[in-house]
Amino acid sequence: MVLLETKNLYSGYGKLKVLFDINFQAREGEITVVVGPNGAGKTTLLNSIMGIATIHSGNVYFEGQDVTRIPPYKKARMGIAYLPQLGNVAAGLSVEENLKIAGYLMPKDEVPERVEEILDMFPKLRELRKRKAGTLSGGERRMLAIGMALMRKPKILMLDEMTTDLAPILVKQVLNTVVELRDEHKQTILMVEQHAKRALEIGDRGYLLVSGEIRYEGNAKELLEHPQFAKLYLGIIR
Ligand SMILES: Nc1ncnc2c1ncn2[C@@H]1O[C@H](COP(=O)(O)OP(=O)(O)OP(=O)(O)O)[C@@H](O)[C@H]1O
Ligand SMILES: [Mg+2]
Repeated sequence: MVLLETKNLYSGYGKLKVLFDINFQAREGEITVVVGPNGAGKTTLLNSIMGIATIHSGNVYFEGQDVTRIPPYKKARMGIAYLPQLGNVAAGLSVEENLKIAGYLMPKDEVPERVEEILDMFPKLRELRKRKAGTLSGGERRMLAIGMALMRKPKILMLDEMTTDLAPILVKQVLNTVVELRDEHKQTILMVEQHAKRALEIGDRGYLLVSGEIRYEGNAKELLEHPQFAKLYLGIIR
């Protein structure tokens, strides 16, 4: 089932045009991966879905409902969680406190139980629950950020560049976490990555965005194995 969709979406910032005629779908239970070079418009796609960018024309649908003009905080309540590119945690607070804060809009009595569920999902975070977030490694910190985004049981989790600037071993850790969320918790995920290869390896469907246009859509592994992937990626061929 298609959970999130854009139809003929043109968007940008104010008068600036960034995305052109984007027809995009994220299906329930899948990892959808959007790759593309710097400045291609990947973050703008997430911003447009969330309602942070300027939509010039076209529509965004969530669970079949037109949500194009719905403000970000309402979309969050509807079940769209967005972890921005520089998404951060409160360094001076412990892992557990950060998770509690992330549940601030939930009914108060449900928060402790949900914190335990998140710690069950991320045994590593359970070990670190009393540690100040500022002392976590880059990978651990991103796991905490994902855990925080999951506090309110979102229907879709949108991740922007979760692996950028991480050491290879941590990249693997974070991506394994994403796979586990899909396989063990049926979490629908939309992830944007500049480092295409590893993301496409774990993805179900893949999109390649170049200069604000979709240049490829389909099976993620097929995109990765495309004989002219490098040229496609750089926008040299269509
Ligand atoms: N808030 C903003 N206001 C104006 N222009 C912006 C804003 N954010 C991004 N842009 C511009 O929109 C274009 C697309 O940027 P975007 O951040 O979507 O690219 P990206 O694919 O996410 O790149 P990266 O891989 O570097 O994160 C760029 O030209 C960028 O300069
Ligand atoms: Mg970006």
